[in-house]
Amino acid sequence: MGARYTAAAAFLDFRAAVPRVNTLTVELGSRSYPILIGSGLLTRADLLARHIPGRDLLLVTNTTVGPLYAAALKQGLGDRRIVEVSLPDGEAHKTLATVSRMLDVLVANRFSRDCTVVALGGGVVGDMAGFAAACYQRGVAYVQVPTTLLAQVDSSVGGKTGVNHPGGKNLIGAFHQPSAVVADTDTLKTLPPRELRAGLAEVIKYGLIDDAALFVWLEENMERLLAHDPDALTHVIRRSCEIKASIVGRDEREQGDRALLNLGHTFGHALESATGYTKWLHGEAVGAGLLMAATMSHEAGLLSAEMVERLRRLLERTGLPTEERSLTPDTVLEHMRIDKKVKSGRIRLVLLRSIGASFVTADYPDDALRRTLEAHLG
Ligand code: NAD
Ligand code: GLY
Repeated sequence: MGARYTAAAAFLDFRAAVPRVNTLTVELGSRSYPILIGSGLLTRADLLARHIPGRDLLLVTNTTVGPLYAAALKQGLGDRRIVEVSLPDGEAHKTLATVSRMLDVLVANRFSRDCTVVALGGGVVGDMAGFAAACYQRGVAYVQVPTTLLAQVDSSVGGKTGVNHPGGKNLIGAFHQPSAVVADTDTLKTLPPRELRAGLAEVIKYGLIDDAALFVWLEENMERLLAHDPDALTHVIRRSCEIKASIVGRDEREQGDRALLNLGHTFGHALESATGYTKWLHGEAVGAGLLMAATMSHEAGLLSAEMVERLRRLLERTGLPTEERSLTPDTVLEHMRIDKKVKSGRIRLVLLRSIGASFVTADYPDDALRRTLEAHLG
C-alpha cells in the first residue's frame, strides 16, 4: 500500500493543452482515492463530477472562500441540486454546534445517502465538512477541495475529520476517507502570506519525519515558495501528499507509523488550546512545536545541536514564530496531558534522531521535557 503516480496526466496535457494534473492515489483497497494537484482544477468540472455520483450536493465553504471560489466550482456541475452552506470563518468556529448546523441543512433538504458533501476551503472547513459527512446517515461521500497550502499538503488527505472541544484540540471526530481530493494550486494566489507560512510548517514537518532531501530542498528554495513560485509550490504539495498518502496507505487508523505525522503537534496543540485557538494559527503552532520536538530530542541526547539550529534557521527564514512567552511550562504541560496521544497517563512524543529520521516514544527523561518547555515558554 502507498502512493502511486499515474501517467494519464501527461497524456491529457499533450492532447488538449490543458494545464498539467499531477495525480497520486491513496491506496486503501476499495476505499482508495485520487489526489489531483494542478492549476485551474476548480473549473475542471469533469474531474470533480466523476466523484459526485448522485444528484444532491452539499457545498460547504466559509464566508471568506465562498465569495472567491464557490461560483467557479458550481459552474459546470450540471443539473445537480446544489445546496450551499457558508460557515463563519475561523478555528474558533470548529465546533460541534457548527457541524450540527450542516446536519440540519442536510435533513431539512431531505438529502439521501447518495448525496455528496464537497468541502471548499482550508483545513477548518475540510475537517468539519468531513465530520458532517461521516455522521450523516452513518456516512455519506465527500470530496475535499482544499484552498490553503496547509489543507493541500496535509488536512485534506487521510480521512481525519472532526472538531475541537473547549478541553482540547480535535477531541471529537471520526476517520472517514474522502472520495477524492482536488487541489487547485491557483487558489493559493489569494492566500494571505501568514497562512502560506503556516502551511509551510507542515511541509517542513514532512522533511523532518521522512525526507532529508526535501528538508535540504526547502533550505535551498524557501524564498521561491514565499514568493508563490507555482512550480516550487506544486513540487512541495506533490511531495508532501506523496509522503502522507504512503503513510496513510500503510496505517490508516494510526496504529503505528501514522503517529509520526504528529511531529510537533503535541506541543503545538497545547499552544493553540492554551491560548484559546485565537492567537496561533494551527500551522504556526506546529512550526513552534517542531522546534520544541527537536530541542527535546537534543535534550534527550538524540539529536545534535547543529540539526536543531538548522531547523531554527529554516523556521525563521519561513517567518514562523518559535516561542510563546505568555504561557508557563506548567500550563502547557497541563494541555499536553489531554492530547489524544496520551497513553496510560504518559505523553507520547515524536522525536528525531536526525533530520529525516523520526520515531514515537513515551520513554524519555521527564527533565528533558521540562527543560524544553522552559526554553520556549514563560
Ligand atoms: P483555515 O481553514 O482556518 O484557513 C486559514 C484561513 O485562510 C481562513 O481564514 C480561510 O478562510 C482562509 N482561506 C482559505 N483558503 C483561502 C484562499 N484560497 N484565499 C484566501 N483565503 C483563504 O486553516 P488551515 O490552516 O487551512 O487548516 C487548519 C485546520 O486544519 C486546523 O483546524 C487543524 O486542526 C486542521 N488539520 C487537520 C488535519 C487532518 O489530518 N484532518 C491535518 C492538519 C491540520
Ligand atoms: N495530520 C496528522 C494526520 O493526518 O495523521
